Amino acid sequence: MDKKINKHVYFVATIAAFGGLLFGYDTGVISGALLLIKTQFAEPGALQMAPELQEWVVSVVLIGAMAGALISGRLADRFGRKKIIIATAIIFLLGSSISGFAPDVTWIITGRVIIGLAIGVASFTVPLYISEISPKKIRGALVSLNQLAITIGIFVSYLVDLGFAETPEGWRWMFIVGVLPALVLGIGMFFLPDTPRWLLSKGKDDAARLALEKTLEPDNIQNEIDSIKQIITSEAKNKISIIELLQPWLRPALIIGIGLMFFQQFTGINTVIYYAPTIFQIAGFEGDFAPILATTLVGIVNILFTIVAIWLIDRWGRRPLTFLGLGGMVVALTIMGIAFNQAEVLGSSLKWISVGSVVIYIAFFAISLGPIAWLIISEIYPLRIRGIAMSIATFSNWLFNFIVAKTFLTLTKVLTIPGTEITTTDGLQNSNPAGAFWLFAAVGVGGLIFTYFYMPETKGHTLEEIEEHWAKGKHPRKLK
Ligand code: BGC
Repeated sequence: MDKKINKHVYFVATIAAFGGLLFGYDTGVISGALLLIKTQFAEPGALQMAPELQEWVVSVVLIGAMAGALISGRLADRFGRKKIIIATAIIFLLGSSISGFAPDVTWIITGRVIIGLAIGVASFTVPLYISEISPKKIRGALVSLNQLAITIGIFVSYLVDLGFAETPEGWRWMFIVGVLPALVLGIGMFFLPDTPRWLLSKGKDDAARLALEKTLEPDNIQNEIDSIKQIITSEAKNKISIIELLQPWLRPALIIGIGLMFFQQFTGINTVIYYAPTIFQIAGFEGDFAPILATTLVGIVNILFTIVAIWLIDRWGRRPLTFLGLGGMVVALTIMGIAFNQAEVLGSSLKWISVGSVVIYIAFFAISLGPIAWLIISEIYPLRIRGIAMSIATFSNWLFNFIVAKTFLTLTKVLTIPGTEITTTDGLQNSNPAGAFWLFAAVGVGGLIFTYFYMPETKGHTLEEIEEHWAKGKHPRKLK
């Protein structure tokens, strides 16, 4: 394919992936910000905010994201992908400013809900936009760019957290820096066209042709327009509703999408992403700086292994990678649990074992469920219901994410074996997270069983072949 065309598509996808960057930045930033917020807004007489309130500060973003994921499918169809992504950038700007200038916790929470709304919309529309502008041959790599952007966003948030960890009220800056990528996204998207598919669905044929001229060679343009129009006409004839997803032939696809999102979230990824510095403090790192520094290492490993995944996904296939990744996560979680359970015996070595096992855990997540869950939901649904189906799977992702984030600190309290509480150097008594890690490990074992019996291998299949597989009523595992 023409190099100039390739470069252009990568450029456009990169601008759109700034939405993924914001997704990552705004979900990761809270880990370091929380350490400062929880002491600044402690109840009079207490050393830190009540754990329940801390959980709200972390997880309220996810309520916004759930709402965003649910409504974005319809809005993106009505107003176009481009306008919705620009609107998302504006909402990001608003939310970042409100939480950055917040006078109290209520305002922080308000700003975080607004940011959440933007994240929910971005998590759905960015992959949609990228997949619709991409030529078939490089669509996989381009869509995965979004997951890479998420991990880069998380890492940058850790660096920014680190930079402001010792600044008075540094959490304000941590939130406000999020304004910069939002500006790049908003301004960048303003100059890009909408997707040819959406333009054609609105009868804007000339604009669609112009957009296609930048992503396809001249000879292929008319063909592409004809095939998109054909799909649009057939979609208009057979109106598809959510109900169709419940039909026996599509039920496996629905279960796989929601199932993968369940295992992606219930194996505890975001307890690490949101609470890593807190976990490292409990493991024995002192102050705010060292735990955040250890967390940046987690961020780097997350990026590097996502790159490894992008490289391996089309070579090894989705199933082997998911097996390997889940297996490694289960082992790392079990070690984490044993280490925290034996905190007394291990003494100061606990902090290094905790960093080691968290790093191993994140590496295995990054080569498997991180990119693969999002990739699979963009592959397994028939084109005509991909929008609704993806938004349901995305919603379930945020719902599960919310449940885990909201209950983690309470869970550690409930599952602490009496007598294993850990007192950190600042004098705080903390519940022992061992039980929670073991619970996540057990869910991981469930994930391995689910993968073995239920996950299809989509590598090397066209989307039409996958659709045909469902239409024939075949078992997901038979797709090899
Ligand atoms: C997940 C997020 C997670 C991120 C970590 C994404 O695939 O959906 O919940 O925070 O990966 O890299």
